Amino acid sequence: MVQSYNKRYPEAFWNALLELIGAEPREVVAEFGPGPGLFLVDTVSKLQTKKVYGLDESESMLKQADEFLSCVLSSDNYILTQHDFNTDAMVLEPNSVDMVFSGFLLHEVDNSQSIILQAVQSLKPFGVCVVFDFVSGNEEAFVRVMGAHGMDEEKARKRYPHMCKHSVDDIGEFMTNAGLKPSGSKKIRGTAALVVGLKD
Ligand SMILES: C[S@@+](CC[C@H](N)C(=O)[O-])C[C@H]1O[C@@H](n2cnc3c(N)ncnc32)[C@H](O)[C@@H]1O
Repeated sequence: MVQSYNKRYPEAFWNALLELIGAEPREVVAEFGPGPGLFLVDTVSKLQTKKVYGLDESESMLKQADEFLSCVLSSDNYILTQHDFNTDAMVLEPNSVDMVFSGFLLHEVDNSQSIILQAVQSLKPFGVCVVFDFVSGNEEAFVRVMGAHGMDEEKARKRYPHMCKHSVDDIGEFMTNAGLKPSGSKKIRGTAALVVGLKD
């Protein structure tokens, strides 16, 4: 995941994100499923973030995130918690964060709607919820992108239905159902999409 980070989060991703959420600082950011935490590391320079929360089920991922985040934030400004979204109750304070981000998590959990509901609870008023994941609708683009990551075609086609579980519209609907105002989306590399919802 560390090796593929720059390919999965290219310049086009950051340009699209800033276009969708605006350039104002996002001081407190939570990532659901941060893995090694590299997106959270980048928020410090790109979104002027001062404090981050990372919730992930994997102890080894959190260990890596600790190593990377300690290079950019003091230890009291990053909080990493082992958390299984399929079973655990939300640990973040209600109305406490400016942005909740989940990158390539939604297709892995049992209940995507519940992830967005938990994001809404944690967000401050006017906070943003950002989902970035593979989306359905373009199997050929998915196979091409996975091929560029070294996966053979047969394996990529087997993964297509699972890893591209939702469409952009599905994710927008999860946001609407959770009380967010969908405020835009953008496809990245033809097979992943950023979808943004605003809390009133
Ligand atoms: C594909 S990785 C993406 C990591 C990171 N967001 C990125 O884009 O580089 C998905 C992450 O979600 C975590 N994850 C998967 N299912 C989870 C669950 N039920 N609860 C919490 N974390 C989960 C995994 O441990 C992994 O770190």
